[in-house]
Amino acid sequence: MQTNRLIRKLVLVLTLTTAAVVGAAEDIAEERHELMEGVRDATKPVGAMLKGERDFDAGQLQESLAVFDAASKKLGDLVPAGSEGGDAAPSIWEDPDGFAAKIEQWQSDIARAIEADPQNLADAKPVVGQVLRNCKGCHDSYRIEDD
Ligand code: HEC
Repeated sequence: MQTNRLIRKLVLVLTLTTAAVVGAAEDIAEERHELMEGVRDATKPVGAMLKGERDFDAGQLQESLAVFDAASKKLGDLVPAGSEGGDAAPSIWEDPDGFAAKIEQWQSDIARAIEADPQNLADAKPVVGQVLRNCKGCHDSYRIEDD
């Protein structure tokens, strides 16, 4: 009898733990999704500047670069095993080194643009263009296109 109760308790604890782990993985997938939406929002003003649809603003550019910088440093922590899903492609988990290399490339291009701190559109175009090339460069291999 005692043993039965113990087993029931153990089963309950195990069930709750599994639910918590699955829940945490879903939270992480959601966080990853939100992180990238933040990146998209930060890209909008920069894209408009590069296209000449909006006045060049060095301060805004640095703000967006800071968002990219923070995101690029966080993304690698948001792909633990079990957090598969969303728009994240299975290749992230099949080829973690390749994914890490893409993140590293993105980080170094962002750092270069922050350091260059361009003050006009002509100076911004090459360094910022290089940063934005990483979006497609990574998505092509590590994101499922649904749009
Ligand atoms: C190193 C890889 C990498 C780089 C670089 C990268 N992304 Fe992403 N992006 C991802 C992954 C992975 C997802 C899927 C996230 C998910 O759904 O779990 C994603 C998703 C997105 C989404 C869709 C949101 C979602 O999750 O549904 C947008 C928008 C986005 N990225 C914008 C950008 C922009 C803009 C840039 C460049 C400034 C960029 N990304 C750079 C990997 C990257």
